[in-house]
Amino acid sequence: MTILSIESSCDDTGASVIENGVIKSNVVASQKIHELYGGVVPEVASRQHHLDIVPVVVAAMDKAGKKMSDLGAIGFTKGPGLLGSLLVGVSFAKGLALSLKLPLIEVHHMHAHILAHFIEEPKPEFPFICLTVSGGHTQIVLVKSYLEMMVLGQTIDDAAGEAFDKTGKMFGLKYPAGPEIDNRALRGEAKFEFAQPVLPGLDFSFSGFKTSVLYFLQKEMAKDPGFTNANLNDLCASVQKTIIMILMKKLKKAVTETRIKRVAIAGGVAANSGLRAALEEMKTQDHWDVFIPSLQFCTDNAGMIALVAWVKYQSGDFADLSVSPDPRMPFPSLNS
Ligand code: KG4
Ligand code: ZN
Repeated sequence: MTILSIESSCDDTGASVIENGVIKSNVVASQKIHELYGGVVPEVASRQHHLDIVPVVVAAMDKAGKKMSDLGAIGFTKGPGLLGSLLVGVSFAKGLALSLKLPLIEVHHMHAHILAHFIEEPKPEFPFICLTVSGGHTQIVLVKSYLEMMVLGQTIDDAAGEAFDKTGKMFGLKYPAGPEIDNRALRGEAKFEFAQPVLPGLDFSFSGFKTSVLYFLQKEMAKDPGFTNANLNDLCASVQKTIIMILMKKLKKAVTETRIKRVAIAGGVAANSGLRAALEEMKTQDHWDVFIPSLQFCTDNAGMIALVAWVKYQSGDFADLSVSPDPRMPFPSLNS
């Protein structure tokens, strides 16, 4: 059984072929054009998906050594995401399914970030805790099975990726700033302190932190206009350290409350070397069993969509041809 899956929720066009649960290809075209604007421009993203989707799908099929006639189903990201971006992938998937007379399988993007852990070894056993941190979401999820999950906590304002990107923008870094902050943090010292939220439960907040970075910069730049450039690596290290502290505090609380020490991270921010190291540290410090996907399956990709499509195919969970994108698709938080 071979499934082609498509991802187009934000600014990455992805296609992946999965055969009997094994990823055969995973092709992504990342849209560099948004660097010019300091953030994703929805209309531009949609048009770029339109340009990239055919070559990306052709490359994924070629890499997997498959023909259209080998396919048994088409998976696609239904949401959440940008409407114009989702529309391109959903319409393409529907067109293929209609012409090839194949079943369609809809996938929730954040569900896919979590199930990316089942692409490569080692795979976590259920139940486990997953911290999903991306440009649009920050959640702690109790994962009971492939299809049963419960959100234990989430951000009440910005996502962790946004906290990286927006503070990076204050430093004059290009969008998305997360990878550059990560890089510079390795060469800097975390010597500046920024605000951390005091929030009960397992929810996150990054707005106070962001404001504290802004006020700090304004104050220092008033004294010395060259402050940001002269201290860029130390600023990056300090911002990264604070974001990781905010994330790890709640993750540790979730582990204490659930008594589940199998812990995974997922989403674009899971590519961050500091966060990966903080998680690794918990292996020795508190005997956590830690799961960190390889970089290609942290940031947006269609391999993770293919994995969910594969799981849903087994349970006969198909969409019909009238399906449309859902930019605010609710998390498939099934049971309590
Ligand atoms: O999951 P993802 O690729 O797309 C969304 O679904 O949002 O995540 C993108 C986010 C961006 O905010 C980007 O800055 C962040 O992930 N990111 C990182 C790193 N690589 C990507 N943040 C910190 N360190 C990184 N190495
Ligand atoms: Zn994502």
